[in-house]
Amino acid sequence: RARVVVLLSGTGSLCEALLTAAEDPGYPAAVVAVGSDRDAPGLEHARRRGIPVFTCALRDHPDRAAWDAALAAAIAAHRPDLVVSAGFMKIVGPAILDAFDGRLLNTHPALLPAFPGAHAVRDALAAGVEVTGSTVHWVDAGVDTGPVIAQREVPVLPGDDEARLHARIKDVERELLVETVARVVTGLGTQTTEDPR
Ligand code: GAR
Repeated sequence: RARVVVLLSGTGSLCEALLTAAEDPGYPAAVVAVGSDRDAPGLEHARRRGIPVFTCALRDHPDRAAWDAALAAAIAAHRPDLVVSAGFMKIVGPAILDAFDGRLLNTHPALLPAFPGAHAVRDALAAGVEVTGSTVHWVDAGVDTGPVIAQREVPVLPGDDEARLHARIKDVERELLVETVARVVTGLGTQTTEDPR
């Protein structure tokens, strides 16, 4: 099975979905480690399953370049075929991009290229769109600009606030991530876009 390292910064419900999927030996990827830039609650999903975790905090390094290099080394130690950024809230630097070029994907709570950045759900609500969604994409040097692998729509409902809408997006994201990781590691998914309709 393909070796996957997951990066997260928060509650890690997306990571948990991947860990659960990977418990089925028929799933084509195994999560070999979960890393974070902080002592994130989401690491617990891995610890509970006996899967190695690592943290690499920006504040423990003299500058961003040193942090980026240390995180790249920590990831590489687990020899991943694929690195999945699932709610990892730091922008990765050149050391990581170079080391994992074409093997690093991210999940984002909007239909990119709409609403990139750290407040995608809030921004979609503020713009008054009727439909937003979830995107899985390859990571490049920009912020949420890399090639889209898969997208799925989520309607904005009357009365939605950021928390409610984000929760419904995450329901979709978990499924889309599990499906897309399977597709990518079996070599089918590269650079194709799923029709969301
Ligand atoms: C997800 O919605 C993910 O797309 C988003 O953080 C959430 C993580 O949820 N990522 C970003 O906004 C990255 N810019 P989780 O901690 O429950 O897995």
